[in-house]
Amino acid sequence: MSQLPSAKALQHLVDETFQQFHGLPGGENASYIPYLASVPDELAALVIVTANGDVYQAGDIEYRFAIESISKVATLALLMEDVGPEMVREKIGAEPTGLPFNSVLALCEHHDKPLSPLVNAGAMASVSLLKADSAEQRWQRILDVQRRLTAGNVTLSDEINESEQTTNFHNRGIAWLLYAAGNCFCDPMEACEVYTRQCSTLVTCKDLAVMSATLANHGKNPISGEQVVTPENVAPILAEMTMEGLYDYSGDWAFEVGLPGKSGVGGGLLAVVPGKMGIAAFSPPLDESGNSVRAQRMIAQVAKSLNLNLYG
Ligand code: DON
Repeated sequence: MSQLPSAKALQHLVDETFQQFHGLPGGENASYIPYLASVPDELAALVIVTANGDVYQAGDIEYRFAIESISKVATLALLMEDVGPEMVREKIGAEPTGLPFNSVLALCEHHDKPLSPLVNAGAMASVSLLKADSAEQRWQRILDVQRRLTAGNVTLSDEINESEQTTNFHNRGIAWLLYAAGNCFCDPMEACEVYTRQCSTLVTCKDLAVMSATLANHGKNPISGEQVVTPENVAPILAEMTMEGLYDYSGDWAFEVGLPGKSGVGGGLLAVVPGKMGIAAFSPPLDESGNSVRAQRMIAQVAKSLNLNLYG
């Protein structure tokens, strides 16, 4: 597809796709984080933000939900700015694990190297590798980049943070394994605590679509006009998303949709169409890999209708 359809046609597509899939049965809210289990499961939204900043949206567009794993993309972008892609590749990796996002087995099989910044181990290693003199500075830099990527009012939810910090024992174990192998570059409990906070911010579906459109627009946020990511760093971020953005479903997603994506257990999912647009969808019920059932179908439908598959 060389040119985008008219504004009217794009809004029509968003409305139709939302109508078709917002009530799709199947999946369950994440339950291992108590807060997420309590979010109403009928919520849903779909948003497109083009690379020049036009917005098309439908559904529960005001609802603010937990960013969760999609925060890993923001932290990766910041880390790329701090140390460059080659250091990210050397210290963390650029391979799919083929295993769930919090897999200890994936670490054990690879000498405790995370392989990807988009699984929990690699995300905590990323947090630890950021330039920062204190936990507070580490956190403030992450919150700041989430705000700059979304041009949105991203804030920490104390309720979600409390819910996660008091139940994140598995991630604490992973952080200690990383540290023991020399793959955590600050105090491991600091890395885990800040990582948990970065997952506990509230975003709208539009915020995620703007983040995605920023990557689609060579790192320049089309809403704020700020160059948030150096253009050369965008391709390696998208490559990491292709490899691991939907965890052990990433290969199937690439096969079917052909767009770099990233999901979160809060029900958010974004996909990047380089040079053209960001697409984001939200709905809490998840499949077994931890990806929103309805969000996947909504984005897949938009990609198919507009012929966006990068391998097509
Ligand atoms: O670390 C965790 O388990 C959560 N805070 C985030 C995980 C997540 O979103 C994985 N997603 N699909």
